[in-house]
Amino acid sequence: MDTDRSDALILFGATGDLAYKQIFPAVAAMIRHGRLNCPIVGVAKAGWNLPQLQARVRDSLEKHGTMDDAIFAELCSRLRYIDGDYHDATTFTQLKQQLGNARRPLHYLAIPPALFATVAEGLAKSGCATDARVVVEKPFGRDLASAQKLNRTLHEFFPEEAIFRIDHYLGKEPVQNLVYFRFANAMVEAGWDNKHLASVQITMAEQFGISGRGKLYDELGAIRDVVQNHMLQVISCLAMECPPRNDHQALRDERARLLHAVRTLTPADVVRGQFQGYRKEKNVAPDSRVETFAAVRFHIDNDRWSGVPFYVRAGKRLPVTATEILIRFKRPRRPVLDDRAAPPANYYRFRLSPKMVLAVGTTVKLPGESMQGSCIELIAHDQHPDQMEPYERLLGDAANANTTLFARQDAVEAAWRVVDPILGNATPLIEYEPDTWGPRIDDLNLIPEGGWHNPN
Ligand code: BG6
Repeated sequence: MDTDRSDALILFGATGDLAYKQIFPAVAAMIRHGRLNCPIVGVAKAGWNLPQLQARVRDSLEKHGTMDDAIFAELCSRLRYIDGDYHDATTFTQLKQQLGNARRPLHYLAIPPALFATVAEGLAKSGCATDARVVVEKPFGRDLASAQKLNRTLHEFFPEEAIFRIDHYLGKEPVQNLVYFRFANAMVEAGWDNKHLASVQITMAEQFGISGRGKLYDELGAIRDVVQNHMLQVISCLAMECPPRNDHQALRDERARLLHAVRTLTPADVVRGQFQGYRKEKNVAPDSRVETFAAVRFHIDNDRWSGVPFYVRAGKRLPVTATEILIRFKRPRRPVLDDRAAPPANYYRFRLSPKMVLAVGTTVKLPGESMQGSCIELIAHDQHPDQMEPYERLLGDAANANTTLFARQDAVEAAWRVVDPILGNATPLIEYEPDTWGPRIDDLNLIPEGGWHNPN
């Protein structure tokens, strides 16, 4: 496929939540930065008309983006709307007419996965899939078998290089920086292995609950919602080998290779929790056994990482909203001179959100006669104020046919293979009180050496 820029953006699910919270703000930011100048066609079955969609866009920019009258006016001048059923061929005939001479449409499927096949088929039958690209949102399937089925379906209508599976964590500036920081600094890379590191832990804590997403969340749970995708993608960025070339495939190859080396989980590697009150949330089953918290221990079976556990903890209604990685070095074996005990382990601390921080934990000598130390943290990097949001970056990349930051079929399937045995009720479910760090620590037989680090 050549790399022509997309000349039309079609948004299926234009009246939905994702479009409202993420996609319209990203489109407005792209217009502001001169990265989008093509028609935008919203498609949905909502009984709406164009002015209603425009009003929704205004509201979206006011609440979730930056409201600027000139940008809003430009966005509206590009916006068209088709109200139609995805099962109805006329919806796609209308779309074909709207697309006119567009040669490289970019179809964004911001719709429930159950409708992906219907829409993909409608696009193909109407000729709208020819030379087109398609963006699909996670979750890509519910388990390995359904992900394989979904991939087969999409491949009936689109070649792999035209499929853009969005995992917005891959588009986050701090995740990009993580990769850069590793490979740009020889001193970091030098100690990045099982000779020097003891463990890696990632905490994705969210203070809020399921925010009105009861129906969707109750079909997912934390493992399907964020562990199988966001957390494993972050692990792949942390642990992959340096790509040998600077092209679209090389990075994806390395991320996928790493995921293929992650050991398949067993129930002993997982603790699941559910916050008290979850079952009373709207659209949640009163007897739901779905987890809102998961702690998971991964192992990577390759030369670099064998023996270094990677812990992940992700949950809703925890005390803070923050995603942070802590990489602990092995502790020095002996005390330094007249110190009574060996100094504590060095560490790297990477905060991915709400603000990016790269920090290094070191031990230095306390002033005075004796050779004793104290810990200090060196902040290596702080967030730049005007960073690009993931959806803007990823939409722009998809429009440019740049697949680097998108999940490839083999990587998605490898991630499902890893979590497949622990999905559903394979492990017990432990209740936890909201605003705590999940199930009580005694209930967690998954504790990294040196303990869990709670971001504050
Ligand atoms: C989404 C999950 O993919 O990521 C949500 O479905 C979660 O449950 C969200 O809250 C977190 O994204 P971010 O960018 O706010 O960390």
